[in-house]
Amino acid sequence: MSYDIGQLPRQDGRIVMVTGSNTGLGFHNAHDLAAKGAKVVMACRTESRATDAMRRITELVPDADLEFLALDLSSLDAVRSAAATFRDRHDTLDVLVNNAGIMMTPYEKTVDGFEGQMAANYWGHFLLTMSLIDLMPDAPESRVVSLSSLAHAQGTKKIRFDDIHWEQKYSRSGAYQQTKLACLLFALELDRRLRAAGKEIVSVASHPGVSPTELGRAMPKLLTEVVRYTVGPFVSHDPDVASLPSLVAAIDPEVSGGEYYGPQGLNEMKGDPGPARIHPCAHDVHAARQLWDLSVELTGADLPFDS
Ligand SMILES: NC(=O)c1ccc[n+]([C@@H]2O[C@H](COP(=O)([O-])OP(=O)(O)OC[C@H]3O[C@@H](n4cnc5c(N)ncnc54)[C@H](OP(=O)(O)O)[C@@H]3O)[C@@H](O)[C@H]2O)c1
Repeated sequence: MSYDIGQLPRQDGRIVMVTGSNTGLGFHNAHDLAAKGAKVVMACRTESRATDAMRRITELVPDADLEFLALDLSSLDAVRSAAATFRDRHDTLDVLVNNAGIMMTPYEKTVDGFEGQMAANYWGHFLLTMSLIDLMPDAPESRVVSLSSLAHAQGTKKIRFDDIHWEQKYSRSGAYQQTKLACLLFALELDRRLRAAGKEIVSVASHPGVSPTELGRAMPKLLTEVVRYTVGPFVSHDPDVASLPSLVAAIDPEVSGGEYYGPQGLNEMKGDPGPARIHPCAHDVHAARQLWDLSVELTGADLPFDS
C-alpha cells in the first residue's frame, strides 16, 4: 500500500459518527478519524464491545476524543432513540459513516417485521440519516458515507419490491446483495435530492473490496479459514487498508457528491483507495425513487427539507 493518510486534512473540532465501529472497518475509520483530531461518536449495538474498542484506540491515540452511542440498527425505535440521544448531546454532526452491517445471516424477522440483513444494513441507516441530516452544516465538508460492496453488482441486481421482506423464498446471499445495492442506490438518490434542494452536503459511497473482518461470522468457520489461508492474501487486504475508501469519502476535500470509492487493484478487491465502478443497476433512477418512497413509508422519516 502506498496511500498516505497524512495527505488528508486534520479534523479538529469536527464531530463524526461511525456506525458499527467496535470492530472491522468501522474500528479503523474510528481510529484514523480520532488520530486526525475529530470527536468520534462510536455508534454500536454492544456497549462492552464498544468500550473495549475505545480502550484499544486510546492506547494508540492517547488524546482520542471518543464517545459511545447505543445504536441497534435492526430496530426502528432503537434508531430513533439513538438519534434523540445524539441530539440531546450535540448541535452538529459533520460526518456520518453508515458502516455497520451483517452478511448472509439466517432468516430473521426484526421487531418491525423486516428481513434482518435489510434492517441492519439499509432501513436502519436510512432512518438514522433522515433523523440527523438537519444537524449537518450546509457545506461540502459535511458527508454522509454509505458502505456498499462489490456484491451490489452480483445476483439479480434488482430490489425485490414484490417481496421486500423475503417472506417467500429466502436467499442469504441474495438478501445481502440486495442490501448493498440498496445502500448504493440510496447514496446516489440522496446526492440527487441534496443537489435538487440546493444543499452542499455531500452524499458519497464507498466499498472496501474484500477484507477478513468479522463480517463472515454467519458463514461456516472452516470455509472462511480455508479461504483466508489459501487465496486470501491474493484477493483481500487487511481492514486497516480496506477501510481507507470510507476514510477518503469522509474527509478528502476532493470528494464530490454521487461518487463511489474503492480499492484500485485487480477487480477492486484490494489496493489503494480511488474511484470505483458503479454497476448500471445502481444508476437505475426509477428503482432509486421507488426505494426512497418505500423507505419513507416503512420508517416514517424523510428529508427535513424539500427536494
Ligand atoms: N469485509 C468485507 O470484505 C466487506 C466487503 C464489502 C462490504 N463490506 C461492508 O463493510 C461494512 C463493515 O463490515 P466489516 O467487514 O467491518 O464487518 P464486521 O467486522 O462484522 O463489523 C460490522 C459492525 O457492524 C455492527 N453491527 C452489525 N449489526 C448491527 C446492528 N443491528 N446495529 C448496530 N451495529 C451493528 C457490528 O457490531 P457487533 O460487533 O456488536 O456485532 C460491527 O461493529 C459493512 O457494511 C459491510 O457490508 C465489507
